[in-house]
Amino acid sequence: MPLLEVQRAVVQFGGVTAVNDASFTAERGEITGLIGPNGAGKTTTFNVITGLQRPTRGDVFFERRKVTSLPVHRRARRGMARTFQRLEAFGSLTVRDNVRVALDIHRGLRGVFTASGADIDALLARVGISAYAAERADSVPTGTARLLELARCLAGDPKLLLLDEPSSGLDDAETDAFGDLLKELAAERRGIVMVEHDMDLVMAVCDQVHVLDFGSVIASGTPGAIRSDPAVQKAYLGYSDVEDAGDHTQELEPVPGGVA
Ligand SMILES: Nc1ncnc2c1ncn2[C@@H]1O[C@H](COP(=O)(O)OP(=O)(O)O)[C@@H](O)[C@H]1O
Ligand SMILES: [Mg+2]
Repeated sequence: MPLLEVQRAVVQFGGVTAVNDASFTAERGEITGLIGPNGAGKTTTFNVITGLQRPTRGDVFFERRKVTSLPVHRRARRGMARTFQRLEAFGSLTVRDNVRVALDIHRGLRGVFTASGADIDALLARVGISAYAAERADSVPTGTARLLELARCLAGDPKLLLLDEPSSGLDDAETDAFGDLLKELAAERRGIVMVEHDMDLVMAVCDQVHVLDFGSVIASGTPGAIRSDPAVQKAYLGYSDVEDAGDHTQELEPVPGGVA
């Protein structure tokens, strides 16, 4: 049984079908990519997994148990953590205090109250933002703020990490380091599901990729298989000629709405 299973999920907003009978799984110890053009339903799917959005139909299973109607905080307690496309840290607190608060919240849930300085320092170092510890969270570069979000998630020692466009705002060197960190986190037997537009990163780190288009899963497989899948190329304009030599990953960029 996979760590996470989304089974035939449908989400309708009035007349819009944001998620259309989507089924996929994510495993422990693996990085699972969820990709697709803008508006494909990726964030809505994350909301269904974490409990922010009740699906119109379908189910979510986490560690074999149906969690479809569990509230967000109960899924979190079972080991789900997510970062948001929009950043959520406390802007007026320092980077360090944001991590402290996250640790205190998670330990408070378990009855252990104060985060030690060493624990905070370890998390900051782990995601590579120790140099920004004393800065206000609203004054750091976007890439650093994203890494802070990740540190706050890791404070809860999650079994499943859901990352919504984690590399946006990171430069190339930061993205490489981030990919290495994701692999380390997966090697600890965590499951990671990542919505990501940087195809180089997706191709480099993901074990499995699911492609959403107009709310439906149009392809699932390894990055290599996904890259040469005709349905995927059709959903991503500008990436239709696999016969050419060379590196096409730069061209596999999402196009708003895909093709009609
Ligand atoms: N709360 C909402 N109410 C109405 N429509 C929504 C809502 N959230 C998302 N949508 C629509 O659902 C579709 C999927 O959106 P979203 O999940 O944000 O896509 P993605 O994250 O892949 O870009 C889009 O057409 C979007 O406009
Ligand atoms: Mg989105």
